[in-house]
Amino acid sequence: MIKTVYLNGKFVPDFEAQISIFDRGFLFGDSVYEVTTVLGGKLVAWEGHVERFYRSLKRLKITSSCDRQTLLNLHRQLVQLNQLKDGLIYMQVSRGVAQRDFLINEKVEPSLVLFSQEIDLLEPSRLNRRLKIITVPETRWEHRDIKTTQLLAASLMKTEANALGVDDAWFVEDGYITEGTSSNAFIVVNSKKIITRKIDRAILAGVTRFSILEVAMQLGLEIQERAFSVEEAELADEAFITSATNFIASVVEINGKKIGNGRIGSTTLLLRERYLTEIKKTAI
Ligand code: PDD
Repeated sequence: MIKTVYLNGKFVPDFEAQISIFDRGFLFGDSVYEVTTVLGGKLVAWEGHVERFYRSLKRLKITSSCDRQTLLNLHRQLVQLNQLKDGLIYMQVSRGVAQRDFLINEKVEPSLVLFSQEIDLLEPSRLNRRLKIITVPETRWEHRDIKTTQLLAASLMKTEANALGVDDAWFVEDGYITEGTSSNAFIVVNSKKIITRKIDRAILAGVTRFSILEVAMQLGLEIQERAFSVEEAELADEAFITSATNFIASVVEINGKKIGNGRIGSTTLLLRERYLTEIKKTAI
């Protein structure tokens, strides 16, 4: 089905949206992006996404001429034009089109692209997935806090994990888990203590991670923001990932070792229930 997308000032049918082969997003991965969940036609955690988007742009010194309200309007228009109920809006700004050169020309005009994807995010079989993961060496660059489109290492690792018969991979640096290929990683130990890595350059500051920690706090659960080792993860009572497109998804096997009793843990379920209630209330 043909969908409407946005490209540099215009809403057009997807097959008409063309970008130059000289775009630095294509040649250098010189671009940043956001993925915002849409539930019931409304944007989930918009403030968190737009905030992080401008943070990423600033880190790459890309100057976008679009202000927050314009970006919000573009998201809402795309939801309307595609009659999107549940799914996501993908937004990307690349530095723009320039003669191929490692030296960045500051006068280049950035490109802005938005498209939507319909996904049945609340479908029970999707919510209740029980993921199996393996751990793999961290092979991404040092600045994982910037949401750039340099996603090759993550994409290769996820594909390799799939080829080995599991769902995904968690990256490991110096013996400690950083995060998933496109999600943040959590474990639950000692009946309901939640552990997830603190925010620094090693991981992306997940918008869903933040919301889940807020929910955990409201529920009075103990939280530790610190790195955890592969061994600690393998012995955890529960494990899960968070992301805009997975919300909170249970991990039941790490490196072939069963986590807890192999079912979705009670803390994971509790967090999910409260989280879904909250985001439906606050989506705009
Ligand atoms: N990815 N860490 C990485 C490396 C990610 O790519 C993502 C999200 C997250 C979770 O962030 P958030 O909760 O804000 O979605 C953590 C998106 C969904 C993607 O690339 O499709």
